[in-house]
Amino acid sequence: MGVSEIFETMEYGPAPESAAEAQAWLAERDGRFGHFIDGAMTQPGRGFESRNPATGAVLALITQATQADLDAAVASARRAQGDWADLGGPARARYLYTLARLLQKHARLFAVLETLDNGKPIRESRDIDVPLAQRHFYYHAGMAQLMESELPGRVPLGVCGQIIPWNFPLLMLAWKVAPALAMGNTVVLKPAEYTSLTALLFADICQQAGLPKGVVNIVTGDGTVGEMIVGADVDKIAFTGSTEVGRKIRVATAGSGKALTLELGGKSPYIVFEDADLDSAVEGLVDAIWFNQGQVCCAGSRLLVQEGIAARFYAKLRARMDGLRIGDPLDKCIDLGAIVDPVQLARIRALVDSSDGEVYQPATPCPEGCFYPPTLITGLSPVSPLMQEEIFGPVLVATTFRTPSEAVEIANNTRYGLAASVWSENINVALDIAPKLAAGVVWINGANLFDASAPFGGVRESGFGREGGWDGLLAYTREIGAQKPLTQIKAFRGAEVEPQAVDRTAKLYIGGKQTRPDGGYARTVYDAAGELIGQAPLASRKDIRNAVEAAHGAKAWAGTTAHLRAQVLYYVAENLSARSDEFAKRIDQLTGGRDGAKEVELSVNRLFTYAAWADKFEGRVTQVPMRGVAMALREPCGVIGALCPDDRPLLGLVSLMAPAIAMGNRVVLIASEAFPLIAADFYQVLDTSDVPGGVVNILTGSHVELAATLATHMDMEAVWSFSSADVSGVIEAGAAGVLKRSWVNNGLARDWLGAEGEGRAFLEASTEVKTVWVPYGV
Ligand code: NAI
Repeated sequence: MGVSEIFETMEYGPAPESAAEAQAWLAERDGRFGHFIDGAMTQPGRGFESRNPATGAVLALITQATQADLDAAVASARRAQGDWADLGGPARARYLYTLARLLQKHARLFAVLETLDNGKPIRESRDIDVPLAQRHFYYHAGMAQLMESELPGRVPLGVCGQIIPWNFPLLMLAWKVAPALAMGNTVVLKPAEYTSLTALLFADICQQAGLPKGVVNIVTGDGTVGEMIVGADVDKIAFTGSTEVGRKIRVATAGSGKALTLELGGKSPYIVFEDADLDSAVEGLVDAIWFNQGQVCCAGSRLLVQEGIAARFYAKLRARMDGLRIGDPLDKCIDLGAIVDPVQLARIRALVDSSDGEVYQPATPCPEGCFYPPTLITGLSPVSPLMQEEIFGPVLVATTFRTPSEAVEIANNTRYGLAASVWSENINVALDIAPKLAAGVVWINGANLFDASAPFGGVRESGFGREGGWDGLLAYTREIGAQKPLTQIKAFRGAEVEPQAVDRTAKLYIGGKQTRPDGGYARTVYDAAGELIGQAPLASRKDIRNAVEAAHGAKAWAGTTAHLRAQVLYYVAENLSARSDEFAKRIDQLTGGRDGAKEVELSVNRLFTYAAWADKFEGRVTQVPMRGVAMALREPCGVIGALCPDDRPLLGLVSLMAPAIAMGNRVVLIASEAFPLIAADFYQVLDTSDVPGGVVNILTGSHVELAATLATHMDMEAVWSFSSADVSGVIEAGAAGVLKRSWVNNGLARDWLGAEGEGRAFLEASTEVKTVWVPYGV
């Protein structure tokens, strides 16, 4: 196009970014890459081609890691880890700072290479991916510096296996590597097979920074290499990718003791109220669904518009879509680049072709090759598969709503819960809706905003764990503590005796009522001397179902004030204290021990601790480097099922119940299997302490039999196990179904009498962080 024509049409002229430097970098390495193991690149081996999706041209040959490669990488990371941790936070901070500086120094090379490899517009890789990756390293250099003073009692996990996707190759690497290194871990990272190149350039940077060998290892390959990492001798797996693979990883790591965080898919709602600034909302939508061709886990891919403005809004949106430019990703004027791979393109096509809605695409032809036009689908019903399934492409599905409550209902009608956008000029409407949305991140009048200081992550099947901010560090540290194995505690046996004249059969406690077990079975309980002391009911699946239903019925507890929850806990403490002698004797009788009095005293104290915390375990406000603040708020998980410790029948139960209900959860507790009768005494205390029915439900029975039911129940948000029975694996595997949060002891003992028995870890497990971004200031 000539200058005069451009003058005529006012069309953009092409503004291509040069690929020369990136091509030279590839050529210097003959376009063939091995792995980065133990501080050096290995010889290239058998592998696969990495292509530029915009042109189909081969960029490089990537090596498929073998088991031996992977073992070498893990061994190197293991050797390096102790010294890396021992260097201390300030010394690690210097390395992270150097990495950040080098990322900055080579920013353009990273941006161009990313665009060549992934197909995303250079405007995005240059202005978003690379700067955010730098920011992540700077921010975490600071976290390394502050670790010792600000995170006392937290230690690194060890070696972290990290598996990342292709949509933000460098940025996801930064999200994984920076916090891991800051906290004293070493890593083995695998980039996605479509997009390995910026990770390999990052290996160069690690060498330039003089990073000790083995601290960062990068192995390339497809999903089978991912599987090898999951199965390797690592202490943690951090995964970002599809929900399907995330679920497989949950099953594969179940019972292994490996820590796990999963950042998975989404179908995030983008809610536009009739009082929104419609032009801003249209612009926001461009960022929400056409950023990175819609290949964004938190893309605002489900548009919900208030009915009265729907027609006007769709018209504005279509006009804006007509103006989007699609083509050569290296052109600085381009809005949409290429889809990452023909496989993904075919997937998007097939999904759109299956649509029974009205499909709108701009009339301007889409370039040949791996490109897909911006697409709007209207007229779908909320249950249509396209309203539910993640398309992971530039495709927006839309529907309308009438009232705010209907908007919430449609927004939450999904198995996912990653992000949401709310558009309204009325702060009351926006801030009323935000807490009601099932999402880990909510943007008010914004979309796809990210920062290293703002926790990111999902609820439901969008995964668990947070990346970024102080909360993200939990995923790369653990509590310091003795890791002693736990021995199974068995119930005492005794001789069969005649049934007693007075029935001493305890009951289950469901919905605030004493209930007989559905199955009608009970177990005889003996003391240490073999004397019969009573019968404990054996709960069944049905009892668990009833308890969960009762817990859901007590939903109002989550909405009560923290002040009120504290008052209730103080009251429970007071009533337990009033009966302390009786409880102490009972514990001694049940366990054959002598420190029942101490256990009761500590239980009362623990109730006081969580009453204290109820209104003090707060979120944070982060001053993100843009026009806004991000509030990382704490919300209760919902309904938590827990197998209580066997060794301390009262204190163990209280140690799980109190933090959970202090934070607004409802609980289904399976009391100590060996010493179940204390539960019956304890629910009498609850009955007299104003605990609303259904907030605490207590069952007794076989931990092994009930573990799977707890874990697989579809309507429970979290499951914990501190049982002395070997059930951690069953719990974690069962929890994979709906990707329920799980917290298990992995057969390790916890000292319930001491500091390990209470504190932040329990409060953190009882809450989900919701990050709400709000416009603020200038
Ligand atoms: P994927 O989940 O298969 O790939 C992500 C990463 O996991 C890659 O590094 C891959 O090599 C690795 N991987 C694959 N199978 C594995 C296994 N069994 N064990 C361990 N690691 C494994 O995603 P894929 O196939 O590239 O894309 C398919 C769909 O997944 C997309 O269309 C999209 O819907 C979703 N997706 C979501 C992402 C997100 O950020 N939430 C990112 C990428 C994909």
